[in-house]
Amino acid sequence: MAIVIKYLKELMFFVLLAILGLLTRLHFMHTKYSIGYMKNTEDKTLKMLTPDDVLSEGNGVILFEISERMNPPPLVLCSIESAARVYPERPVAFFMKGLPDIDSTDYQTQTRRKFPTLSPYKNIYFFPLRMDELYKDTPLLDWYKKINPKKEKYWINVGADGSRLASIWKYGGLYLDADVISMRPVPHENFLAAETLSYCSNSVFGLNRHRSFTWKCMEDFVKNYKGEVWGYQGPSLFTRVMKQWCVLPPFKNTEDVTCGNISYLNPERFYPIPWGAWKRYYDVWEELPSFNNSYSLHVWNYMNRNNEKTMVVGSNTLIENLFQRYCPTTYASLINNVTFHRKPHSPLISRV
Ligand SMILES: *[C@@H]1O[C@H](CO)[C@@H](O)[C@H](O)[C@H]1NC(C)=O
Ligand SMILES: *[C@@H]1O[C@H](CO)[C@@H](O)[C@H](O)[C@H]1NC(C)=O
Ligand SMILES: *[C@@H]1O[C@H](CO)[C@@H](O)[C@H](O)[C@H]1NC(C)=O
Repeated sequence: MAIVIKYLKELMFFVLLAILGLLTRLHFMHTKYSIGYMKNTEDKTLKMLTPDDVLSEGNGVILFEISERMNPPPLVLCSIESAARVYPERPVAFFMKGLPDIDSTDYQTQTRRKFPTLSPYKNIYFFPLRMDELYKDTPLLDWYKKINPKKEKYWINVGADGSRLASIWKYGGLYLDADVISMRPVPHENFLAAETLSYCSNSVFGLNRHRSFTWKCMEDFVKNYKGEVWGYQGPSLFTRVMKQWCVLPPFKNTEDVTCGNISYLNPERFYPIPWGAWKRYYDVWEELPSFNNSYSLHVWNYMNRNNEKTMVVGSNTLIENLFQRYCPTTYASLINNVTFHRKPHSPLISRV
């Protein structure tokens, strides 16, 4: 009998320890990520939130899913998770085209259930992407009314190009392609980033709302629209408008420059691995690069649109190391193999 009691005591002790451990973990997650963005949102229940409620302070981080798919691949989830971790005090809004088809309007609860790896991060919000609403009061509305997405050669890309401009015009904040892994906060509010020494990217940029640069881009988008030329409304547009905007000093080494009142960041900040070398993300490196000169990494998923490469658990590739470090919850789910039993398909929004 005494032995049984002793055994029971020990058991109780371990059960208590386990509970304590769990509580500490929950507390950690709670304090680190859920205080995030709750100012405007306190007085509204989660399920009634609109993008205006969440993004009106102009400090949002904005990402899109332009296709109808509701099963974004691990890289997209990693991109969102890494942003939520790097910007715990800012709302991270993910606009999905497929969301209006969900039965009820309670997007936050439903989507958090659907994406369990993102649900611990209370600063992530999901919204349906409705372009007709988004483009209202911008030059893009007329273009959108005239266009037939089915006849567009690069609809996903031009749709994504327009959406990021209109949302940054309306709300201000930071735009990220869904194949950007965030490592540390970008210490600029108003910036564009070079992807090569002579080419401005549009996969990462930050601007306050109603900046004339954004308006000029939307005007040029509509006026000079060439849907059949890939990237013409994207990086080419940014590069074009910038050239009208300022005389750009050339980059020296890894320094940033400025274009009028907008910072123009060195290719090192987001594109330390240039698009032509995108497969390096899927290599095993003898020594992992420190990326000390970079804030985020654009992994050029458009180059991988045929899913030639995937992140393989246990491969020790650079991409696996990045997942482990910057999106640990997504990574853990891949190890446990609970959530992902399918091959990702359809290209992400990103380009060379
Ligand atoms: C930035 O510079 C542009 C062009 O000179 C000017 O029109 C705009 O008002 C400036 N914006 C801010 C916020 O300073
Ligand atoms: C990069 O940062 C790490 C960690 O802060 C540091 O240990 C390392 O020396 C840095 N490397 C370079 C090349 O600056
Ligand atoms: C993950 O699940 C799929 C489908 O159930 C299975 O085919 C695959 O072998 C699993 N992978 C691992 C690493 O367990």
